[in-house]
Amino acid sequence: MFDGALWKGHTIGMKPFDQRLGEWVLEAWRKRDAALGEPAVAGAVVPAANPAFGDYQYNGVIGAAKRAGCNPRELAAGLVRALPPPPEAAQVEVAGPGFINFRIQNDSLAEAAAAVATEPRCGTPAVGEGKTVILDYSSPNIAKPMHIGHIRSTVIGHALDQLHRYLGYRVISDNHLGDWGTQFGLLILGYRHFADPSALENDPIEALEQIYVKSYERAQSDPAWMEAARRELVKLQQGDPENRALWERFVAWSLEEFERIYRRLGVTFDLVRGESYYRDRLAGLVDDLRRRGLARESEGALVVFLEEEKLPPCLIRKRDGGFNYATTDIATLLSREEEFHPDKIVYVTDERQQLHFRQIFAIARRLGIRAELTHVWFGLMRLPEGTFSTRQGNVIKLERLLDEAERRALELVRETSPGMSPEQQVEVARAVGIGAVRYADLSQNPQTLVTFTWEKALNLNGNSAPYLQYACARIASVLDKYRERFPEGRFEGAPIRLEEPIEREVALRIVRFPEVVLAAARAYRPNLLADGLFALAQSFSTLYQTIPFLQAPPAQRDGRVRLAAATARVLREGLRLLGIDTPDRI
Ligand code: ARG
Repeated sequence: MFDGALWKGHTIGMKPFDQRLGEWVLEAWRKRDAALGEPAVAGAVVPAANPAFGDYQYNGVIGAAKRAGCNPRELAAGLVRALPPPPEAAQVEVAGPGFINFRIQNDSLAEAAAAVATEPRCGTPAVGEGKTVILDYSSPNIAKPMHIGHIRSTVIGHALDQLHRYLGYRVISDNHLGDWGTQFGLLILGYRHFADPSALENDPIEALEQIYVKSYERAQSDPAWMEAARRELVKLQQGDPENRALWERFVAWSLEEFERIYRRLGVTFDLVRGESYYRDRLAGLVDDLRRRGLARESEGALVVFLEEEKLPPCLIRKRDGGFNYATTDIATLLSREEEFHPDKIVYVTDERQQLHFRQIFAIARRLGIRAELTHVWFGLMRLPEGTFSTRQGNVIKLERLLDEAERRALELVRETSPGMSPEQQVEVARAVGIGAVRYADLSQNPQTLVTFTWEKALNLNGNSAPYLQYACARIASVLDKYRERFPEGRFEGAPIRLEEPIEREVALRIVRFPEVVLAAARAYRPNLLADGLFALAQSFSTLYQTIPFLQAPPAQRDGRVRLAAATARVLREGLRLLGIDTPDRI
């Protein structure tokens, strides 16, 4: 469906072509269906699958014809006849089994490409103005190293964060640390028995994890140990000063390590409220759920039955009286609702938490929470040798992965830019290495399995950050050369001419940027943006290699340089949204 209403009141930003054409289709339906009442409009205007047939395509006729029991080609022809063609379209045609194809006029296209290059936010409309979204992402657990499974939540969450801010939303990013789980009983007990001061000095998180594993193993064979751990947990929860001090120390150590990684990734949060922030609300919440008849006793525990939603019951108080992950998440939701009145709350975690969030969202609806709730889940990242997971032996710590990325990128930069100063090489390698890891993750559909390889992540000729960064650097150098050779040249005001098909292709990909940004944010799929940027960089590379550039006659040359500058702006802006820096040289 088109959300034509979306643009009402948004004066900032232009309307992308897909929306403008969508409105034309809507109008055509209205005209045609005037006698029948509500228009049967469905489907959307999307980029044409085959550029030979047009630039955009409306694909809603076939389904509508099927439902109405009429001939789709005739229906499409009727729509096309209902209205004069949209002003920006050179051609409107019925094609295939009943598609409507549009070709944009060269002048409109050139004008739109020029506007994308100069408008704030590359012409992306501020559809989020006045709306609040809370983004819950990264959210690692205290006293455990952040392994590379966590990178996905951090990187995907951060891209969604940037995208929503770009669209004008008020974004509240919250790092919901796992700092109040049952692991602390075993950890405190283990710490008292097996703490090794020098190991703790060296790498506190590593040492804490070892303490935890030892303590956990002992508990498996020793019920008294398990019982003692439970007592430590209760003491912590009741505010025992000694246990509280230990807990605080564990949290501080972990945050120090997490901060180091966030700094390298350029990630900041508006809030870092761990689970512990909500601890005093849990008992009241559970009482309230019981009073309202939502939670019931079952075998000594308290659960919310979710039969209506066809979900398994959700445990909110264990038999031993302890609260759990779900209890905290419900309390968190209520607190967020109360404090921020969000329009949307988005959680980014791995696929294993799908059931958890379905249950939480079902309970939230019963509690009357109106915010739109979305769980954005992703598959675990794999190395060719297996899954990254703390449960398996081959844990790769995120920091080591980033170190290696920078090291490998430095080798690459030394090859591509041997003349650069060593300090600058290191600086560029940082952008390329971190960018490569981020992009390898963001360029995939989050819900597919990602196999990470260095070859792919750092491939200068493939769909990778270095490829896109290189495209930006190449354009920067073209602009430098232009200024050097033609000091009188003014490409900024030169008309973009679109004489060659490849110029048209580049211009189309430029003007699609706002469409792609909107689509990526709406679907919570940063990879749609990555795809759009890659396609643009590829088209530009073809243009650069197949038609004369600085050697072209001035009228063509200046228009092409302007198109190149527009390409660079879109690429840089898009990569920035994905958290990827674009050095001027690589
Ligand atoms: N700490 C959890 C984990 O590492 C993720 C928390 C996600 N956010 C939430 N509100 N439950 O698996």
